[in-house]
Amino acid sequence: MKKVIILPLLLVGIELMADIKAGEKVYKENCAICHTINGGSALGPDLNIVSYTRHAQEIEAYAKDPYSLAEAFGYSANAMPTLPLEDKQFKDVADYISSLQPFKKWMIKKK
Ligand code: HEC
Repeated sequence: MKKVIILPLLLVGIELMADIKAGEKVYKENCAICHTINGGSALGPDLNIVSYTRHAQEIEAYAKDPYSLAEAFGYSANAMPTLPLEDKQFKDVADYISSLQPFKKWMIKKK
């Protein structure tokens, strides 16, 4: 009986890992020219820091439409372009960035 439960969980786990790998590729090819990971601010903020303060959903939403969200994210202007990626690539890259920092500030912060 246990096997029946464990197998699907394992498959979900493997799939998530695959998405994170795909997301790393999306980052390297599309985001690394403006964002470092652990290298400090470049043109855009260090995505390791971003992963500490934002949900995966927020990262995905911003990557998809930075123009509309710049103000809500505290920027006075938007310099990040809207990249022509597929929905799955935005999700994968957000999962990858989100996976960088497992202990997130928003988990600790009391509302
Ligand atoms: C041409 C440079 C450039 C590229 C390419 C770029 N960004 Fe950005 N990004 C910026 C800048 C500049 C900001 C600061 C806000 C703004 O100008 O919109 C930003 C802000 C962000 C933020 C908001 C961070 C926060 O919490 O305040 C996220 C998330 C983000 N970028 C993700 C990505 C992802 C993911 C990619 C690749 C798919 C990417 N960016 C590609 C320049 C870039």
